[in-house]
Amino acid sequence: MLGNFTFCNPTRLYFGEGAIDNLKGELDKYGKTVMLVYGGGSIKKNGIYDKVVAVLKDCGKTIVEDGGVMPNPTSQKLEEGARIARENNVDLILAVGGGSVCDYSKAVSVSAYCGDDPWEKYYIRFEEPTCKIIPVGCVLTMVGTGSEMNGGAVITNHEQKLKIGHVFGSEVFPKFSVLDPAYTYTLPKYQMIAGFYDIMSHILEQYFSGEDDNTSDYISEGLLRSLIHSSRIAVKNPRDYEARSNIMWTATWALNTLVAQGKTTDWEVHMLGQAVGAYTDATHGMTLAAVSMAYYRYILPYGLKKFARYAVNVWGVNAEGKTDEQVANEGLAAMESWMKDLGLVMNLKELGVTSEMIEGIADATLIMQGGYKVLTREEVVNILKASM
Ligand code: NZQ
Ligand code: ZN
Repeated sequence: MLGNFTFCNPTRLYFGEGAIDNLKGELDKYGKTVMLVYGGGSIKKNGIYDKVVAVLKDCGKTIVEDGGVMPNPTSQKLEEGARIARENNVDLILAVGGGSVCDYSKAVSVSAYCGDDPWEKYYIRFEEPTCKIIPVGCVLTMVGTGSEMNGGAVITNHEQKLKIGHVFGSEVFPKFSVLDPAYTYTLPKYQMIAGFYDIMSHILEQYFSGEDDNTSDYISEGLLRSLIHSSRIAVKNPRDYEARSNIMWTATWALNTLVAQGKTTDWEVHMLGQAVGAYTDATHGMTLAAVSMAYYRYILPYGLKKFARYAVNVWGVNAEGKTDEQVANEGLAAMESWMKDLGLVMNLKELGVTSEMIEGIADATLIMQGGYKVLTREEVVNILKASM
């Protein structure tokens, strides 16, 4: 049965080639001072920075720059950003980049006036914001996280060896996001495919939970089929607009809260991946890829019917004359070969994990309740070892 829910997604999306033309209309809705947030410089090389600054100037904005947001943004950087936003009394935070830049901007938006240590408040005590929240807008340059249309903000604390996501409510969602698929053409292949797997994982985290018959799971199967199809094209020809635009749209729907409505969800792969990220600072999508097969093979017997359905409806496995177990395993084998064909990282060693780190990573892995098997700490250790 589909459970009860309230669904509201307040983010306005501008999608397609030339979508940046809509930025001026959005900027005009906000006050004079805009904090321009970006990463390590890719937007300066590919010309997106110049385009955005030209629009900001055209709107007569005062620009406060906050560049250098690193992949997996840190709690230290968050404190710096919150201070910059507060001291300059900014009216809007404009995030130009990937998930890291968008997440960071949302975290800054709730931290500038929180009057507390944001890491402790939002990531350790998991409190909700009660202070003034600065509006955020995004110009997306990397596809995968869904951060452009959700309230997620993942922050890493290297001293505490923790990488934690806070999923904020709709008041923290970006007010608008500009999604031009052509802006993602300059992504290095490694980042592009990591993003593809991040999308896959987001859908699977919500799909592999519960046994109810619900529309959300059928939507997920459609999104997965589209992703698999388009990713095969994009990996051969990264400038295939049709494939890249379909993937960009799939990424947004994979994690804008739609496919989680009315059902339980898992998220254990993300908890494993984030713990790996806290120890290695590895690329998010690759941390998920490296642990996924070991995790799914382990929990398969506990969610057999769903894994068999996944094999048939997503991977086109022919179930005739086969047991559910055979069908389910063929589905996972098909998934594994798709992952290898893309060129994803399939083990933790390649991400810099050493056997000495395993116990610490297990300690940093949150145990979720919604998957087909609630893991014990020992099972977490075994899955991590099997992922080496
Ligand atoms: O920093 P720059 O120089 O911009 O380079 C970035 C970065 O090195 C580069 N890049 C981005 N767009 C580019 C580009 N290079 C060339 N051309 C472009 N158009 O790509 C690298 C990775 O960028 P990043 O933003 O870190 O990647 P991603 O979008 O995957 O974001 C990862 C972060 O999002 C969090 C992850 O944990 C991680 O911290 N997540 C956020 C979620 C959410 N908000 O709901 C959910 C996800 O599960 C995820 O946890
Ligand atoms: Zn993710």
